[in-house]
Amino acid sequence: MAARVAMKFMKECFVSRKLKSNNITRHYCATASSSTNPPNIPKKVPHFSKKGRLLTGATIGLLIGGGAYASTVDEATFCGWLFNATKLVNPFFAFLDPEVAHRLAVSAAARGWVPIEKRPDPPILELEVWGRRFSNPIGLSAGFDKNAEAVEGLLGLGFGFVEVGSVTPVPQEGNPKPRIFRLPKEGAIINRCGFNSEGIVAVAKRLGTQHGKRKLETSSTTSSAGDEVVHGGKAGPGILGVNLGKNKTSEDAAADYVQGVHTLSQYADYLVINISSPNTPGLRQLQGRKQLKDLVKKIQAARDEMQWGEEGPPPLLVKIAPDLSKQDLEDIAAVALALRVDGLIISNTTIQRPDPVSKNPVSEETGGLSGKPLFDLSTNILKDMYILTKGKIPLIGCGGISSGEDAYKKIRAGATLVQLYTAFAYGGPALIPTMKAELAQCLERGGYKSIYEAVGADCRQP
Ligand SMILES: Cc1cc2nc3c(=O)[nH]c(=O)nc-3n(C[C@H](O)[C@H](O)[C@H](O)COP(=O)(O)O)c2cc1C
Repeated sequence: MAARVAMKFMKECFVSRKLKSNNITRHYCATASSSTNPPNIPKKVPHFSKKGRLLTGATIGLLIGGGAYASTVDEATFCGWLFNATKLVNPFFAFLDPEVAHRLAVSAAARGWVPIEKRPDPPILELEVWGRRFSNPIGLSAGFDKNAEAVEGLLGLGFGFVEVGSVTPVPQEGNPKPRIFRLPKEGAIINRCGFNSEGIVAVAKRLGTQHGKRKLETSSTTSSAGDEVVHGGKAGPGILGVNLGKNKTSEDAAADYVQGVHTLSQYADYLVINISSPNTPGLRQLQGRKQLKDLVKKIQAARDEMQWGEEGPPPLLVKIAPDLSKQDLEDIAAVALALRVDGLIISNTTIQRPDPVSKNPVSEETGGLSGKPLFDLSTNILKDMYILTKGKIPLIGCGGISSGEDAYKKIRAGATLVQLYTAFAYGGPALIPTMKAELAQCLERGGYKSIYEAVGADCRQP
């Protein structure tokens, strides 16, 4: 593969060089013919000066040498090079307006202009949750691919799962721009996007096409008997979560989420009710005991009324805020256990401004804070929730993860899976393989043979 790419590259370089030289000759002939005595140069025969010949020779030599070297390199090494090369564009992205940079990144992933992870994940990272197999527990959290434009490209980067959304029933613009602010020194972002979404119909259309593809791939790779695979993503190339939001002006939140379930749940490996964005007025109140109970009951009923195949409906998760009191957490845990909620995502962004962020003037911007300064806050809530739910509900740890070591800490605090956004926005694709390798090392160092063994290790009595 490396050799093929190198040969193609050399061929392209050589052809473009040849074209260029032809142009030079033609140009030379044109100027020469306008003079009184045209030199006796045969048309379209390349002509190089001694210096030019030396340069061309050196370039071709280098390319042949490089190509020959590349051909001795295995696919894994070449893949590593490609991922590392993406670091070169990080400074360019940092220079752009955050939302423009984000748009560019999503477009690049949607067009497949990102590396594809060909190396298998370390076996110690593989796990099964909700009957779905994850090749690694590191996912991309909601908000990055809000409209499901780049699912294949993002999964191809090597995430164990990708969550799209939040998707609102009706398309909406979100808050006025600017609404995303970087705090690079702190490794943080403040956003007040306010659910900018193309809406459930547009997202369903996209996922419909992609889902068909996923299904096809799944059945052709896993089922030699040609059995129909009922749920496309299950054994597919990656797990897809769909995160549902509500419209700003809607007065009936439950009706919004139910619409999302009706239109999108057939494409999802898991569904998320996001009731924790700080940028939609009143949303976080849905985390109250009674409101949450009513809401979850309605959504579960809507999902269960639909026609499901053998595999059954997708699991339903609730995403909560990090700004909750002990009482709030107890209420949520009680509802989750009583209604058998399939999982909790802990957590969304915070409205707090912990040190050192508070010293940065950007911290005065309204919105939710994400990234490194959120790590401790969200990890403490994760631990509390693991204890309150007695380890009976799979938890997704999210908030401030920027390394494999961070992912390991979340797992020890009670997370079965983890997600990130901000560190990926800063670090780009190269971060993912690094994190996976680090996490595998951490687990081995801790004497664990699988992720299951490490889940909640810090919450258990010595
Ligand atoms: C710009 C931006 C937009 C986001 N949009 C959403 C969203 O639409 N829905 C959601 O559930 N979370 C959203 N989030 C929150 C992230 O999914 C995640 O929970 C949070 O950023 C904490 O993780 P991190 O510290 O790794 O970024 C958004 C975060 C950022 C930075």
